[in-house]
Amino acid sequence: MKVQFYRHSLGDEEKAAVAQVIDSLFLTTGPKARQFEEQFARYLGAPYCVGLSSCTAGLFLTLRSWGIGPGDRVIVPAMTFVASANVVLHASADVEFCDVAPDTALLDLNWVEELLKRNKRVRAIMPVHLYGQMVDMAELRVLADRYGVRILEDSAHCIEGARGGVRPGQLGDAAAFSFYATKNLACGEGGAVVTRDEKLVDYLTVSRLHGMTKSALSRHEQYEHWDMDFPGYKANLPDVLAALLLPQLSRIETLWQRREAIAARYEAAFSAAGVAFPRTLPGLKHARHLFTIWAPAGRRDEFIARLQADGIGVVVNYRSVPLTRFYRERYGPAEGMFPAAEEIGNRTISIPFYPALTDDEVEYVVDRVVAVGRELS
Ligand SMILES: Cc1ncc(COP(=O)(O)O)c(C=O)c1O
Repeated sequence: MKVQFYRHSLGDEEKAAVAQVIDSLFLTTGPKARQFEEQFARYLGAPYCVGLSSCTAGLFLTLRSWGIGPGDRVIVPAMTFVASANVVLHASADVEFCDVAPDTALLDLNWVEELLKRNKRVRAIMPVHLYGQMVDMAELRVLADRYGVRILEDSAHCIEGARGGVRPGQLGDAAAFSFYATKNLACGEGGAVVTRDEKLVDYLTVSRLHGMTKSALSRHEQYEHWDMDFPGYKANLPDVLAALLLPQLSRIETLWQRREAIAARYEAAFSAAGVAFPRTLPGLKHARHLFTIWAPAGRRDEFIARLQADGIGVVVNYRSVPLTRFYRERYGPAEGMFPAAEEIGNRTISIPFYPALTDDEVEYVVDRVVAVGRELS
């Protein structure tokens, strides 16, 4: 059997939505993008949403909007996708890496507090809701307020999640989302920022379109002269892509329920067989973006090779970011400095996990992971 690492769940509704845009006036950012922004904000219980070209753009532009730049530092977990750290450098600030909890791979809040105590140049914290499970935002908010720093949630993995009744974007100063090809809402490339901060909304709206004071849509509705406030960027979400997101958003809970059911099957089977995986905390809603297992120490490459030989697609999310070549060259050797992120980065394997998996495929993945896990432990 061959089980792809990922297959999207786009179908007739998405095809019809794109056809509708093709039959309309706007291909670029117009009424569909606006409709998506309104519905996404409503879904998340947030006052504002700005659609963007990617989560990376959302993180970067938010840092710019807050004036974070040379001499400033932003706390970023060592276990995340490289984009979380890279945007800090794009803003000409520096990354203050922080370790994660060894059982969940989520930002270690005791470590965050130590960094805040020691480092007066920290201006913001970037919690990453890794794999879809939320960082404790209530506790982080208290810490951030005590030290007067902002919170920018990297919520690329977490749309449907909640913790203690708190959703992404509700306690942070802003949250950035990704609609990249394999995400829970996917349109190929896309992103959004959700916030309560009206100044940030204004900045994002203008900076995503070159710094021009009027968008194509507003110029079309009734021509108004435009000006340019500052040299902005090109980071808007076009209508063709927003159209792909709207039908998915209307069935987002059904898609989530399917992933939740697959996760329950994986967790039960792997717990029984002694295959390790990150802990799902009780009493929260896990958005269920990625399912990762931890290979026995030193055996990951064999584990990957065996699963691939069995026709199962796998990837690695992620390596510890400070151990990548660029960050080692920039900040010096990091071996042993972030032990939990390092260990997870050396052992983690992501296995197929998406609503389009059939029950037979799920059982095949369970069967192979358990068999290889037993052999290599
Ligand atoms: C944790 C995390 N942050 C940020 C990003 C960047 O998202 P995008 O590709 O939409 O820029 C990703 C994408 O995979 C991610 O996994």
